[in-house]
Amino acid sequence: MSPFVLVLLLSCFFLNVCLAHERAFFSGNLSDSETILSSLGTFRFGFFSPVNSTSRYAGIWYNSIPLQTVIWVANKDKPINDSSGVVSVSEDGNLVVTDGHRLVIWSTNLSTQSPANSTVLAELLDSGNLVMKDSNTDAYLWESFEYPTDSWLPNMLVGTNAKTGGGNITITSWKTPSDPSPGSYTAALVLAAYPEIHIVNNNNKNATMWRSGPWNGVFLYRFIVNDDTNGTVTMSFANDSTLRHFYLDYKGSVIRRDWSEAKRNWTAGDQVPATECDVYRRCGQFATCNPLKAPPCSCFKGFSPRNFVEWNSGNSSGGCIRKEPLQCERQNSNGSAADGFMRLRRVKLPDFARRSEASEPECLRTCLQTCSCVAFAHGLGYGCMTWNVSLVDSQDLSSSGMDLYIRLAHSEKPDRRPVIIGRKKGTEAEEIFERVEALAGGGSKGKMKELPLFEFQVLAAATDNFSLSNKLGQGGFGPVYKGKLQEGQEIAVKRLSQASGQGLEELVNEVVVISKLQHRNLVKLLGCCIAGEERMLVYEFMPNKSLDYYLFDEVDIINGICRGLVYLHRDSRLRIIHRDLKASNILLDENLVPKISDFGLAKIFSGNEDEAMTRRVLGTYGYMSPEYAMRGQFSEKSDVFSLGVILLEFVSGRRNSSSSLLACAWSMWKEGEINGLVDPEIFDTLFEKEIRKCVHIGLLCVQEAANRRPSVATVCSMLSSEVADIPEPRHPAFVSRNGVSEAESSEASNNNVTITDVSGR
Ligand SMILES: *[C@@H]1O[C@H](CO)[C@@H](O)[C@H](O)[C@H]1NC(C)=O
Ligand SMILES: *[C@@H]1O[C@H](CO)[C@@H](O)[C@H](O)[C@H]1NC(C)=O
Ligand SMILES: *[C@@H]1O[C@H](CO)[C@@H](O)[C@H](O)[C@H]1NC(C)=O
Ligand SMILES: *[C@@H]1O[C@H](CO)[C@@H](O)[C@H](O)[C@H]1NC(C)=O
Ligand SMILES: *[C@@H]1O[C@H](CO)[C@@H](O)[C@H](O)[C@H]1NC(C)=O
Ligand SMILES: *[C@@H]1O[C@H](CO)[C@@H](O)[C@H](O)[C@H]1NC(C)=O
Ligand SMILES: *[C@@H]1O[C@H](CO)[C@@H](O)[C@H](O)[C@H]1NC(C)=O
Ligand SMILES: *[C@@H]1O[C@H](CO)[C@@H](O)[C@H](O)[C@H]1NC(C)=O
Ligand SMILES: *[C@@H]1O[C@H](CO)[C@@H](O)[C@H](O)[C@H]1NC(C)=O
Ligand SMILES: *[C@@H]1O[C@H](CO)[C@@H](O)[C@H](O)[C@H]1NC(C)=O
Ligand SMILES: *[C@@H]1O[C@H](CO)[C@@H](O)[C@H](O)[C@H]1NC(C)=O
Ligand SMILES: *[C@@H]1O[C@H](CO)[C@@H](O)[C@H](O)[C@H]1NC(C)=O
Repeated sequence: MSPFVLVLLLSCFFLNVCLAHERAFFSGNLSDSETILSSLGTFRFGFFSPVNSTSRYAGIWYNSIPLQTVIWVANKDKPINDSSGVVSVSEDGNLVVTDGHRLVIWSTNLSTQSPANSTVLAELLDSGNLVMKDSNTDAYLWESFEYPTDSWLPNMLVGTNAKTGGGNITITSWKTPSDPSPGSYTAALVLAAYPEIHIVNNNNKNATMWRSGPWNGVFLYRFIVNDDTNGTVTMSFANDSTLRHFYLDYKGSVIRRDWSEAKRNWTAGDQVPATECDVYRRCGQFATCNPLKAPPCSCFKGFSPRNFVEWNSGNSSGGCIRKEPLQCERQNSNGSAADGFMRLRRVKLPDFARRSEASEPECLRTCLQTCSCVAFAHGLGYGCMTWNVSLVDSQDLSSSGMDLYIRLAHSEKPDRRPVIIGRKKGTEAEEIFERVEALAGGGSKGKMKELPLFEFQVLAAATDNFSLSNKLGQGGFGPVYKGKLQEGQEIAVKRLSQASGQGLEELVNEVVVISKLQHRNLVKLLGCCIAGEERMLVYEFMPNKSLDYYLFDEVDIINGICRGLVYLHRDSRLRIIHRDLKASNILLDENLVPKISDFGLAKIFSGNEDEAMTRRVLGTYGYMSPEYAMRGQFSEKSDVFSLGVILLEFVSGRRNSSSSLLACAWSMWKEGEINGLVDPEIFDTLFEKEIRKCVHIGLLCVQEAANRRPSVATVCSMLSSEVADIPEPRHPAFVSRNGVSEAESSEASNNNVTITDVSGR
């Protein structure tokens, strides 16, 4: 064998080795025939030609899938017509693309000189981010993620680029699938009073084609906020292992694509605009759009088409105008009734909202006092939103969306009363405010964004498609399923039923309350899922079901519940009234440690607040204190009442159906004979003293007079025998002297009581 052949063989051998370990970076030149591969092999960077094109572009594409899918392009409007192109890291530390004549056709244009005595490398990360970095310090000098082409990838920032002095990060469509030069559409985060994502038409004065609707501080369209340091809003969508991105196609739609290994193809997920109602201002001003209706446009109540002929012929772009002038607009308004607001439920909020941090009553008042204010809305994370311009781009959204209050002349008042301000306390407005304020209490933003989001598919897989065999129970807000995540963690998934119509509000409330709390005796929330119409909460799984199902034989359990409740009322940074304490809401872990769950109705009290009123009584018969069930008053003492019922149920092994347990306990207590009350299975003369104490304390908790009931902290002390003298209980609630339940008769007429437990007790 000649030496020449040997050299050839050796070089082939080395070439193979080189190919097997492709590099993820380069510092000199990269010719048309060379590429670099990200470390885990997900992405590749080099020259490519789009479909049906022979032009060469430097760009990044998925390496791991068989369909060429380009997610970033450098020289997008300066193609190279042959294979003479070179990408190189220039002497001054810029990444440049040069053509066959060594002319620079694209450059990162970094003005800063490359750091002395160190080299600059271009490295392709496995996220799809091409970075220029200082090889000494590893600091990034430039990243392609800050200069996207037409695609948003997981963990890419969307918003304002602080490094480029506030330049907006935008994505722009390709001209055609064969031509990556800037096309007609651009999508970006628009930083108005409320950040939104907009798609605009570059060829039509950047006119908005679609808007996502305002951002509530947590979710915006499919994105979650992951950073808002330095006053810049940045977002990304959740990083997960699947190959996924959003891209702006050349026709102007933002499309989510997920790679399906089974189909060996991309599957299209969300796409906007999706319906004709997504088209910006589809129905003109003061009208709403519902894609399920034909025609889709209808004027807001109190408004009629500006031009009936046009409107009836299907051209709704002229929108609607007010039928009755507002009182505040009239010259002579003496004697006429004040304007009011009508609530539109669950709509996509109109464009051009103004923002303030006013409370909801204040928001309403401010809007009413300003004649130009045509509508307001208020919500968690949004604060007070007001509109001083024509309302445009509203849409009916069945499940998501927010309530919008539109200003109307008093004469437009619908049969079911609109929210009219100026009536005495206790009007319908207050009811709405009370609930919304409970939600808004405290700065919830911070915690909420830390809460993990689960994909619907993940939860469906974990619960075997929400199979009946995995169902743990059914509450008023929907069923609860047991599930197992791929990593093996067991979870409980509460799937809020769409029929309850209260889903989102309670979900947000629960998330807000529970995410602020950490206690051994409170159930831990692991995350939530909001997907289409689905709303789900994910908790740690409690193997021993709820106290409801458990044979009561551990006094420690009741102590644990007590400690959990003390924490809610006193020890946490917030003061929280649970409002729906009951046996089925106490879960037990494998060590029988009780965990209080279900914070959907919980109310956060501000510093000096002791008691609150609600017009809508929500809770469960048998556990509701009389002042709450009848007058809507709730306080720590109403939770104490519920705790007392749980205590008595605990020792008796019976449910308090229609207060008969309380009546029974009271009469036996008076006769000095409690054995008949106690579950024979747990009755043991050894424990008689303990059990007597439980009955005693339970009766103290359910006393009719709320101010006589002990605080939870006192109950705990009594249970642990730190208090020697336990006072004699007085008459319990719901039982009159002649043994007739007082509350039941009034409950019957209370059709505004909502029961959270539909399974009946
Ligand atoms: C890269 O190519 C340019 C132009 O051909 C050449 O001047 C330069 O020396 C090359 N650099 C390296 C590191 O090969
Ligand atoms: C590529 O060209 C073929 C033949 O002209 C055409 O059928 C196909 O639609 C083109 N593909 C794209 C993506 O433009
Ligand atoms: C390729 O581009 C060069 C200039 O960059 C031009 O001189 C040449 O004619 C082009 N070739 C073709 C085939 O278009
Ligand atoms: C870099 O600067 C040149 C000259 O100012 C400009 O033409 C080019 O578009 C810039 N490149 C990029 C990627 O911004
Ligand atoms: C670069 O390194 C040399 C030798 O290590 C040193 O003398 C010189 O000062 C360094 N230059 C800078 C700008 O740090
Ligand atoms: C996604 O997150 C995982 C773990 O949090 C991390 O290891 C991985 O690098 C991330 N992927 C991307 C593309 O950033
Ligand atoms: C960024 O976008 C905002 C609107 O969201 C606009 O007012 C501003 O001028 C833009 N800034 C730049 C540098 O383009
Ligand atoms: C459209 O927006 C781009 C930047 O996003 C800007 O350069 C251009 O001037 C705008 N055009 C019009 C007509 O406003
Ligand atoms: C935000 O500010 C901190 C400290 O001022 C700084 O270290 C950090 O680089 C800034 N982040 C951005 C994205 O500008
Ligand atoms: C991939 O899916 C798209 C639709 O999303 C379809 O048009 C295309 O034909 C599919 N390609 C293959 C190779 O199946
Ligand atoms: C629809 O009505 C508007 C005026 O309200 C008019 O400017 C427009 O030309 C009409 N469009 C069509 C398609 O008739
Ligand atoms: C329930 O409604 C009735 C009549 O609508 C009212 O009298 C009663 O006070 C309300 N109950 C509560 C607790 O608000």
